[in-house]
Amino acid sequence: MLTLGFIGTGNMGSALAAAAAKNGENRLLLANRGRAKAEALREKLGGEVTDNRGALRSDYLFLGVKPQMLPEVTPELREALEGMDRSPVVVSMAAVTPISRLKELLGEKLPVIRIMPNTPVSVGEGIILYCCSEEVDTASEERFLEAMSAAGRFVRVEERLVDAGACISGCGPAFVDLFIEALADGGVACGLPRALALELAAGTVSGSAKLVLETGKHPAQLKDEVCSPGGTTIRGVRALEKGGLRSAVMEAVIAAYHP
Ligand SMILES: NC(=O)c1ccc[n+]([C@@H]2O[C@H](COP(=O)([O-])OP(=O)(O)OC[C@H]3O[C@@H](n4cnc5c(N)ncnc54)[C@H](OP(=O)(O)O)[C@@H]3O)[C@@H](O)[C@H]2O)c1
Repeated sequence: MLTLGFIGTGNMGSALAAAAAKNGENRLLLANRGRAKAEALREKLGGEVTDNRGALRSDYLFLGVKPQMLPEVTPELREALEGMDRSPVVVSMAAVTPISRLKELLGEKLPVIRIMPNTPVSVGEGIILYCCSEEVDTASEERFLEAMSAAGRFVRVEERLVDAGACISGCGPAFVDLFIEALADGGVACGLPRALALELAAGTVSGSAKLVLETGKHPAQLKDEVCSPGGTTIRGVRALEKGGLRSAVMEAVIAAYHP
């Protein structure tokens, strides 16, 4: 049985807590500035509502507050951590906040797992980039991955790659949503009812992504396999190339990385 503490049960904190709750071996401690939000989550997921300091009684402590709130939240935690024999592993989801900054705020010797989740975590299909401070041993890392496996796919990367990776996995859902919407709009223009067009578009994107991941085939090969000579699909591909789809998508990722 592992105890997972959450400080900040907003959008991402609650999505991760919900994933954690799917594993019956996890016990949740939920803390939020507005206590009602934590209470509502407890109603749904079980566990216990506590205050920020109380959430330290955990094996893994998730920090789910906005990055700009960290200097306000951490002094109380740092003081309490200094008096503890065994500190929890701190799991930070704060964007653009390196492990070095978290240690500066909370203590130099602290075991820290930095994660960068994305919104599909809420349906168990997230991509969660993560990196660990040197204080996190293999057993702690493995227990963490096991405890959170219902959130989606965890991908360990060097910390220097987290921000670039987040431009795909963190921003990507919005980019893909635009594509899904446009795909459905095209279907509506061809006479499909909107709901049906959306179902086909979203399901096609989801299935095509699975095909890439599960077959390991390069997307260019999968594309070639569905383009028969002189057929309809290659005509559509030509239209996308003419519209600059690839260049637009690359520019979107680069724009997110270099604002
Ligand atoms: N949303 C995403 O897609 C996403 C993706 C990757 C990473 N992240 C990261 O996830 C973190 C949270 O983002 P979010 O989108 O979930 O924000 P959010 O919905 O605003 O959640 C933040 C939560 O923190 C609580 N909070 C604020 N100050 C607090 C304090 N002093 N003590 C305890 N709780 C406090 C807020 O409580 P109140 O209800 O009282 O305001 C709120 O529930 C950020 O660091 C962000 O960078 C988010």
